[in-house]
Amino acid sequence: MTIIAPSILSADFSRLGEEIQAAERAGADWIHVDVMDGHFVPNLTFGPPVIAAVRPATKLPFDVHLMIERPELSLNDYISAGADRITLHAEACKHLHRTVHAIKEKGLPAGVAINPATPVSVLEPILHDLDLVLIMTVNPGFGGQSFIPYSLVKLRQVRAMLEERGLSDVHVQVDGGVNRDTVRAIVEAGANVLVAGNAVFAEKDRAAAIAALR
Ligand code: DX5
Ligand code: ZN
Repeated sequence: MTIIAPSILSADFSRLGEEIQAAERAGADWIHVDVMDGHFVPNLTFGPPVIAAVRPATKLPFDVHLMIERPELSLNDYISAGADRITLHAEACKHLHRTVHAIKEKGLPAGVAINPATPVSVLEPILHDLDLVLIMTVNPGFGGQSFIPYSLVKLRQVRAMLEERGLSDVHVQVDGGVNRDTVRAIVEAGANVLVAGNAVFAEKDRAAAIAALR
């Protein structure tokens, strides 16, 4: 079953709690929470205080995507704020194995994201420790960008790597430019968790937008 995770990056930040509840009513499975620090990516969104403020708005899992430098320094803050799963960027971690295990030791599923120009081979040594891999299908930092077609090659590569190792229950997530035009090719290439910002939150009828993706 495909998991739909609307990204609140594209939601109305002046009504974030209500927007999250609207996404839940519209049929979202997870809430994708894009944390940006203005250093790892050229944009700054929100951190633990805002996540904690909207945590009571829903019981849906908060799928926290850390687009930040030195994520190991603030893992506990995101966990205390209400993260249900945490995804790190391979490019932001000097000690990726250690930081993945720091998340797992706290009892949370851990994911690793790779940017468009990062090869999937980077994931190979850590794959068996992961609950999720995130193939970025845009350059991280902003919603509403165009899907990068080469991502489909990487999706097929990572899906093959997982199958070869008997790790087919690891989630394969995509993030960026997922919409009704790109979703079919993305799922056929092996993704089972779809992050969608503009494709959901820019639409007036969020339920129709999520249904269209399904
Ligand atoms: C980009 C974020 C994505 C983004 C997706 O850095 O990680 O989650 O919000 O937005 P859309 O779906 O609008 O491309
Ligand atoms: Zn994201």
